[in-house]
Amino acid sequence: MSGPLVGVNICVIGGGFVGLVTAAGFAQFGHKVVCLENDSARLAELQAGRVPFFERDLEELIRNNMHCNRLSFSKDLEEAVDGQEAIFITVGTPPSSSGRADLGALHEVIEVLSRSVQTGQIIVLKSTVPIGTASRVKEILASNGYGDRTVPVVNNPEFLREGTAVYDFFHPQRIVIGGDSPDAIEYVKHIYRLGMTHPVPIVVTNNATAEMIKYASNVFLATKIGFVNELAGLCDQVGVNVLEVAHAMGLDPRIGPDFLNPGPGWGGSCLPKDISEFIGQGQSHGVQLHIARAVVEANHRQFESVVDKVRKLVGELDGKQIGVLGLSFKAGTSDMRGSPTIPIISMLLEAGATIKAFDPAASREAAQLLPMIEITPQASDVAPDSDCIVILTEWPEFQLLDWWSMAERMRHRNLVDCRNLLSPEVAHHYGFKYLSTGQV
Ligand SMILES: NC(=O)c1ccc[n+]([C@@H]2O[C@H](COP(=O)([O-])OP(=O)(O)OC[C@H]3O[C@@H](n4cnc5c(N)ncnc54)[C@H](O)[C@@H]3O)[C@@H](O)[C@H]2O)c1
Repeated sequence: MSGPLVGVNICVIGGGFVGLVTAAGFAQFGHKVVCLENDSARLAELQAGRVPFFERDLEELIRNNMHCNRLSFSKDLEEAVDGQEAIFITVGTPPSSSGRADLGALHEVIEVLSRSVQTGQIIVLKSTVPIGTASRVKEILASNGYGDRTVPVVNNPEFLREGTAVYDFFHPQRIVIGGDSPDAIEYVKHIYRLGMTHPVPIVVTNNATAEMIKYASNVFLATKIGFVNELAGLCDQVGVNVLEVAHAMGLDPRIGPDFLNPGPGWGGSCLPKDISEFIGQGQSHGVQLHIARAVVEANHRQFESVVDKVRKLVGELDGKQIGVLGLSFKAGTSDMRGSPTIPIISMLLEAGATIKAFDPAASREAAQLLPMIEITPQASDVAPDSDCIVILTEWPEFQLLDWWSMAERMRHRNLVDCRNLLSPEVAHHYGFKYLSTGQV
């Protein structure tokens, strides 16, 4: 098994955020890629060149590569893996009711692969999977007659960020490849190297370490955000501007500037489920992960602190109308999985408030997940008769709203700015009573 000098045949299983970016990215590198998706409605959209969620530049990348016949979509796994050199698995690993990762989709795929895989093919686990998963996959394959020498299993965890996923694919900070077969690792390296236009650090390790790197990274990121959120709460009380503090902290290379923006609490499709699985792994090995647990608890408290701020401005919430700007878990995506906006809005509703909300990309998702609130077509529609506006997601266009006319149409000029999109000076200029997240 030697590294390819030209494009190879790749199968990507799962047409979600990671699978589509991976499939289209590899096709752009010059590989011939077939992406498998078992949801018929989603598959039909993809075959028509449409991406069923919002991710900048992704649809164009997919269409261009479909046009060049380097990228296609299919549903038939057994047929699609035939003749492929590498099979990347990117199916979801969502949280189960116990908080542990649900590996049902992965097991289904492995079950089919253990019948249809061919000697010499490499199986690459790109999904985020608990430590020990690759070992178990190897055992299943071995029980079907495929050892690591004939069908190697490699971990290649993904680190892309939704909102900048396409950019991240082409400009990764590192590529982690874990496995026991040096040939397979070399082959996966070449798959990336064919298209990378700049040097990227490639970390080669064993399967379990690659699995742990992914969890440790996400838990650390959640910890960093959790820290700055608590810091913002203290800054609020002592009259210090958290943005100045975070800026100065970030200049220290031991700390770094990223993930030091305070907000309403961390969320999304990855951090909550990955920290929960991490804690679960600790538990099942008798290791108490106190920091991770505290980070989860502090995050719930952060959601509550947003509701407390609204209450501080409007008094009792019962009968109040609240305008919400932003529903996706972060700007640049329509993804609402694990969004902090969901528990915050639920708490406001439970306290008797009514909600009008706007998001530039996530209205379709929000209509399903939050059927009890009104989703408005325009951001300015949340203002009329509102007792308070709450900015929950950092969409930059919210900064450019006509805040004069917003303020004039509200019942009371109250603004809770969880993302510090406005400054106290600007907000006061428009006549708002304003609570930010750690700005003075
Ligand atoms: N979304 C992110 O930002 C991100 C970043 C890094 C890592 N990850 C990890 O990558 C994995 C995938 O995440 P995602 O957000 O892309 O998930 P997703 O739910 O958006 O996509 C998974 C896709 O796989 C499809 N699928 C499930 N079973 C299938 C099967 N048997 N055959 C074909 N398709 C099948 C689903 O229909 C879905 O479209 C997860 O483990 C996640 O933790 C996600």
